[in-house]
Amino acid sequence: MEKSLSLVFEEIHNSHPEVASSAPGRINIIGEHTDYNQGYVLPAAINLRSYFFLSKRTDEKVCIWTENFRIRELFSLQKISFSKQNKWINYVKGIFWTLQEEGFELPGINGLIWGDIPLEAGLSSSAALEVSIIQGLNTLFELGLGPQRMAELARKTENDFVGVECGIMDQFVSFFGEKNKAVFLDCESLQYELVPVHLEKEDLRIFVFESGVRRELASSEYNRRRHESFQALELLKKYGIKSYKQATLGLVEERKNEMDEALFKRARHVVSENARVKQAVEAIRKDDFRLLGELIFRSHESLRDDYEVSCPELDLLYESGREFPGCFGARLTGAGFGGSGIALVKQERLAAFREKLLEEASKRRFPRPEFYEVEIGKGAKAYFLNKEGKG
Ligand code: GLA
Repeated sequence: MEKSLSLVFEEIHNSHPEVASSAPGRINIIGEHTDYNQGYVLPAAINLRSYFFLSKRTDEKVCIWTENFRIRELFSLQKISFSKQNKWINYVKGIFWTLQEEGFELPGINGLIWGDIPLEAGLSSSAALEVSIIQGLNTLFELGLGPQRMAELARKTENDFVGVECGIMDQFVSFFGEKNKAVFLDCESLQYELVPVHLEKEDLRIFVFESGVRRELASSEYNRRRHESFQALELLKKYGIKSYKQATLGLVEERKNEMDEALFKRARHVVSENARVKQAVEAIRKDDFRLLGELIFRSHESLRDDYEVSCPELDLLYESGREFPGCFGARLTGAGFGGSGIALVKQERLAAFREKLLEEASKRRFPRPEFYEVEIGKGAKAYFLNKEGKG
């Protein structure tokens, strides 16, 4: 794969790529809408990646070819502006913009992008793209940035240039993920632990269900949830806590009458989800995948009823999973309001589960869902290539 991308680069740019960089998408096992609430998450990198090949230019221009769309884009580093036509190029522009804000003056590059992460499927293809780019630039120009700093800058790009107020989870796991390990991350301190996941012990597979519902409301409603949960926390802070991690369900219940219903429910989700993440880590350590699955189901219930980010098409995955022997757990993943869900399913029951979901979706006249099976893969990496395009 990397060899043939190198050849495409040569054809397009008439020069050799100097650096190859790649970064994975992710699934989130559990811990949804907790990252920007300074809580716990348990994502894992997957075996689908975004690749970025690059070489230096000296004219302060960036020329990018994307092999997926077969489009070329050229922009100047002297004035980086947001593109309304080409969404994907904003991730590239945004990384350069952020690096300029940090005081780095880069001379320009030729680049090539290719990826096999399905787009807008809730698998963080955009975070993988940002990570592959910042890491490629860091290697080529020897900027000396560590992975945590790069994850923070990639998130800043998404917040301040692309305009999505996301948390740090996706960029962080893209850097720090490892094969067959989940990343248990405290989003406040950014301390993390790698937790080995032995799905093979129960012959389980990670099944991704793409609902086919576009996440139209995603950014406006996402930002609204964020403000609601911040507001609820401000109120709870009067009672001696500094962050959601210190709050108990008891405290939230006691203060119910001081908040409106929506704020109360947002706080209850964040506090209960933080607790589920910690329980999930224990369950994985004991290879107790039944318990892990139950926590995953409960996470969906809380996202549906308390955080109110589900939709009928994602509830279908949960409902079908609840009653299907061989499905240990299922829930929506990512921001919600459409997009995807994940399920833990016995290998020999995968085909039957898929059939059931297709049948149910068609009965309820929902869009036809798509399915992927993913594995827990490696984190981001970048290296110099020789003239033959090898590392
Ligand atoms: C999106 C964001 C993440 C996180 C999830 C919800 O995927 O990019 O930072 O907030 O939603 O858990």
